[in-house]
Amino acid sequence: MKIVHVASELYPYVKTGGLADAVGALVTTLAERGHEVAAIVPGYRALLDRPEAAGAARALRLHIPMGDVTYVGEVRAFSPRPRLTVYLICRDECFDRRGLYGNGERDYEDNAHRFLFFQKGAIEAMSLLDGTADIVHCHDWQAALLPLLLREAERRTRTVLAAKTVFTIHNILFQGLFPMRHFDATNLPPEYRGIDGLEFYGQMNWLKGGLLYADKITTVSPRYAEEIQTPAFGCGLEGVIATRRGDLHGLINGIDPTVWNPAIDPLLPARYNSEDLAGKAACRQALLKLTGLEATAKTPIYGMVCRLTEQKGINLLLANKDFFLKEKVRLVVLGSGEKRYEEAVKALCESAPGKMAFAHRLDEGMSHLIEAGSDFFLMPSLFEPCGLNQMYSQVYGTLPLASDVGGLSDTVIDLDREPRAGTGLTFAATIEGLRHALKRSLRLFADPARYSAAQRRGMTKDFGWATAATAYEKLYQDVG
Ligand code: ADP
Ligand code: GLC
Repeated sequence: MKIVHVASELYPYVKTGGLADAVGALVTTLAERGHEVAAIVPGYRALLDRPEAAGAARALRLHIPMGDVTYVGEVRAFSPRPRLTVYLICRDECFDRRGLYGNGERDYEDNAHRFLFFQKGAIEAMSLLDGTADIVHCHDWQAALLPLLLREAERRTRTVLAAKTVFTIHNILFQGLFPMRHFDATNLPPEYRGIDGLEFYGQMNWLKGGLLYADKITTVSPRYAEEIQTPAFGCGLEGVIATRRGDLHGLINGIDPTVWNPAIDPLLPARYNSEDLAGKAACRQALLKLTGLEATAKTPIYGMVCRLTEQKGINLLLANKDFFLKEKVRLVVLGSGEKRYEEAVKALCESAPGKMAFAHRLDEGMSHLIEAGSDFFLMPSLFEPCGLNQMYSQVYGTLPLASDVGGLSDTVIDLDREPRAGTGLTFAATIEGLRHALKRSLRLFADPARYSAAQRRGMTKDFGWATAATAYEKLYQDVG
């Protein structure tokens, strides 16, 4: 099939979170399976500076109407592997910035224009494809208006650019909510302004547009697909989702085994597999050395790597600080995000040097070392559409402690509930839930036979993209 993916992030070129990993692995897998795949992403400065993209040739000049002004830009293209072409929608004024979405303090004020330009540019770039696309697959709010913009463009120009559209929600919290005054820049007919269109409590909501106008909707785990139909998780869009229930599917992400595999991982100081864990011990030593934590042998290390936001349950961690202060354990956290959390985690870790360490940065190498060198991996998320680290940690022989929500429920089996199949510990996403799981983890660590059996089960579990890719292929065929 001819498949176009439109997303704001794409591993390995540009990443702030799991969206990049998921889209990067999906487009690669689909290309490997024989499909003709295009990935369309914004031409961020960081991406253009990468060696793979530096020589990307200009494929098209863009003149994009934005209300009654025209934005000029260009499409550049490069092909990193057979059957995969990456198209970059470039305009320096929009994408030559330090951050992707904001300056660290707040979102950029012109995000509506930046990502409208991106989506309209993506539609223009589709004219470069050799023939009509079978599927245009859009991801998250940055591409959520595209199904509607595409159909309107086709109607205006009497062409068919794509047979069907699919929209995937990676996180319903981020909706692309903008003041209605930006509507004019969409150049959509006025009927889409109203409540039956993009209007949402007086604002324009792009995610709502994706939900209403894509032919099929997916999200990244079966459990999250159920959760977002409820007020507790639907972030106000549960009513809209209810109107599309029959077209909503929960397809779990996979992990990329060429990137996340301890047997071949070039970012680790030593490699290992489920038959021979000597390399894991070396990674553990390297992690202790790097972080300056006490190098005592027999007490557990808890690792955590995440965006420091409310979603990731930082408050649950902070409320359980006594556990980390009083018990014979060590904690290492790698993350960046909201200032209030950065400061709180930093203060906690500085109060017990040798026991706790905090690295405040984005660091791909260190994230791999934490996955490999820890004994337990913490994911006390309040909600988690899919979550990737709980899968990475199982494959790296590090038992996840994960709250019982979203994709975490779908991918971690609790060892106390299912002693023969368990690969980690799951708990209610509350302070007490985490406290209880931490206590259970101490008992588990004190029982090496039980710990190793769970560890081996996790390491040999198949989290590869083949299952997910097959499910997407079936969806693409069904929608067609
Ligand atoms: P989300 O997309 O909600 O942030 P996921 O679990 O799906 O959560 O994916 C997070 C990805 O981002 C993982 O690959 C994780 O290792 C990575 N990551 C998060 N924070 C950092 C960091 N500070 N340094 C390096 N990688 C990070
Ligand atoms: C989002 C979600 C995360 C998911 C990722 C990739 O960032 O927060 O749970 O794993 O997208 O789908």
